[in-house]
Amino acid sequence: MPTSPDYAVDALDLVKTYPGGRGRPDVRALDGLTLTIAAGTVHGLLGPNGAGKSTTTKVLTTLARATSGTARVAGHDVVREAAAVRRSIGYVSQGTGADPLLTPRENLVMAARLRGLSRSASTARAGDLVDRFGLTEFADRGAGKLSGGTRRKLDVALGLVGTPSVLFLDEPTTGLDPEARSAMWAEIRRLAGEDELTVVLTTHYLEEADRLADGLTIVDRGRVVAAGSPESLKATLEGDTLSVELVEPDASLVSSVAGSVALLRDVSVHVEGPTGRLVARTSDGPAAVGAVISALQAAGIRHGAVGVSRPTLDDVYLAHAGRSWTSSDVAVKELAR
Ligand SMILES: Nc1ncnc2c1ncn2[C@@H]1O[C@H](COP(=O)(O)OP(=O)(O)OP(=O)(O)O)[C@@H](O)[C@H]1O
Ligand SMILES: [Mg+2]
Repeated sequence: MPTSPDYAVDALDLVKTYPGGRGRPDVRALDGLTLTIAAGTVHGLLGPNGAGKSTTTKVLTTLARATSGTARVAGHDVVREAAAVRRSIGYVSQGTGADPLLTPRENLVMAARLRGLSRSASTARAGDLVDRFGLTEFADRGAGKLSGGTRRKLDVALGLVGTPSVLFLDEPTTGLDPEARSAMWAEIRRLAGEDELTVVLTTHYLEEADRLADGLTIVDRGRVVAAGSPESLKATLEGDTLSVELVEPDASLVSSVAGSVALLRDVSVHVEGPTGRLVARTSDGPAAVGAVISALQAAGIRHGAVGVSRPTLDDVYLAHAGRSWTSSDVAVKELAR
């Protein structure tokens, strides 16, 4: 199959089944997944727990073999040219890859030696990565004593030891506090900008995908449910969300007044104690703001702030997967760690 070298990843119709065991049915972790990723971009593989993100990454990194389908990574077939794929990639797994009994520097040197670098080249490479990731202060202490964010930085540095052209990061920020998470985002952006590196990132944080990725593939139940840039995915949903804060609202009056504004659709009124919120969709946010304020004021309805926002990736997910992104997915997972 001819592959454009512009694609860092070109996967076609991947199926992966795991035996169910003890009479249970097989698990179809990938169910015909097709994916292309342009070289030099940050690509987000997004989906809830069990969607097939890690399985996709394992197939693309040669750690697992697909039941059927084909994939090329950095121009090489993942089955027939597995060794060439491995030389071209870095892989940072969902758990930590660092040995807690070694220091960060020793971890990096060992990884470089395993990649076949000489002793002196390995020491130099480790030194470069320590500098680049701001690990100097921690470089010679046990890796087991690092904070979560610093350990994750070390993991990413380990993934870069072999100077890969494609770096796979499986949930680089799960379990990190917000500060460490934004430091990691900055790091990933910098990596993608500085080197001609393709970063393939799995995450179940919509915000992370939205901020970092040039391209996104939303996976659910082993299939692609939507793909494109965050902006283009959001643009597939027509219009804006309009919301108005209300003071002591009469829900039925507000509904009928807002319902008479031609620019609004899907009007709903949510009352919480003495306050409330009017939410609607509109194809013309700025015009709708003026129209709704006039209508509310003419009817003597008191209101607070009026806002217009673009659709979010959560709205996209809801539209494509038919269910909302539940934050409980994330909460349950983090409790289980
Ligand atoms: N080694 C395995 N044996 C059997 N089933 C597996 C195995 N690995 C994954 N699965 C199943 O395959 C499906 C996809 O799992 P995968 O780990 O790829 O999901 P994920 O999107 O990475 O989820 P998470 O967000 O929880 O990391 C799940 O139903 C999972 O239980
Ligand atoms: Mg996973």
